Amino acid sequence: MTTTQGSTTITADDEAGQAAFDAVIAADSRIEPRDWMPAAYRKTLIRQISQHAHSEIIGMQPEGNWITRAPSLKRKAILMAKVQDEAGHGLYLYSAAQTLGITRDEMTEQLITGRAKYSSIFNYPTPTWADMGAIGWLVDGAAICNQVPLCRASYGPYGRAMVRICKEESFHQRQGFEILLSLMQGTDAQREMAQDAVDRWYWPSLMMFGPPDDASPNSAQSMAWNIKRFSNDDLRQRFVGMLVPQAEVLGVTLPDPNLRWNDETGRWDMSEIDWDEFFEVLAGRGPMNAERLRIRRDAHEDGAWVREAAAAYARKQAARVEDTREVA
Ligand SMILES: [Fe+2]
Ligand SMILES: [Fe+2]
Repeated sequence: MTTTQGSTTITADDEAGQAAFDAVIAADSRIEPRDWMPAAYRKTLIRQISQHAHSEIIGMQPEGNWITRAPSLKRKAILMAKVQDEAGHGLYLYSAAQTLGITRDEMTEQLITGRAKYSSIFNYPTPTWADMGAIGWLVDGAAICNQVPLCRASYGPYGRAMVRICKEESFHQRQGFEILLSLMQGTDAQREMAQDAVDRWYWPSLMMFGPPDDASPNSAQSMAWNIKRFSNDDLRQRFVGMLVPQAEVLGVTLPDPNLRWNDETGRWDMSEIDWDEFFEVLAGRGPMNAERLRIRRDAHEDGAWVREAAAAYARKQAARVEDTREVA
């Protein structure tokens, strides 16, 4: 049976598919790549997972910039491992997005032509070594708060990728905390450098959870689909609650004079976030947007010979398998 709703034609297969999909979501179970899914669910996931992948890949730059200048061999090795983890995260996530029917080439094209978005946090500069500490502690810390609930996302490949990513993110957060702790136990100049980095990264890290709930129109649908589990403001609250005791251990001050626990509301009171800044950076007008894209574009072009060589090798291997089959 075929019926028409507006401009979309709905077939009996779609109706059965939708019913099966609804049942999986209602049971809080998982949708897998070959399952029927609503077009809007697929589109939302492609957008979210590819933006997430782009963020991991662009996110390598602010820290990659410090690998050669890390203050010791040990710090260099740790930072290199961390940046390499982020590349791995990007790869798992591109693979997860590919299961939804978009190609890696399409996603890369969207990124390097500036059509795709990625987390606005990576458009800020990293002028000092303490930025490596603040990024690990605050940016990876915010990423963990955001991503732990995504381990239960209804789309199987996304949820499974997030499990491994979250394990690595928690190492990232600790290494950042430890960098800041060492600096805070150092000289006055080192303590000042750590505080300055915290001052610069604190607000952008709070922006990572996205606009306030009343200005986040797509959240309700994502929650109904079991992709998102908590609202932006709830996650932000959880993050701040995690930071406050850690800031005390570090001896750093979180740069918000209005930050305090409110017993009546059971929430943290805080100053208004500068959303104009968030939207400016998101629109491509942050301090480092153009630079981040230029470097990604150059890296992609410089890597053309590697892709060609890998493709030629794969063809050769495939031909060799064919040959052995013919002989046998
Ligand atoms: Fe990551
Ligand atoms: Fe990370």
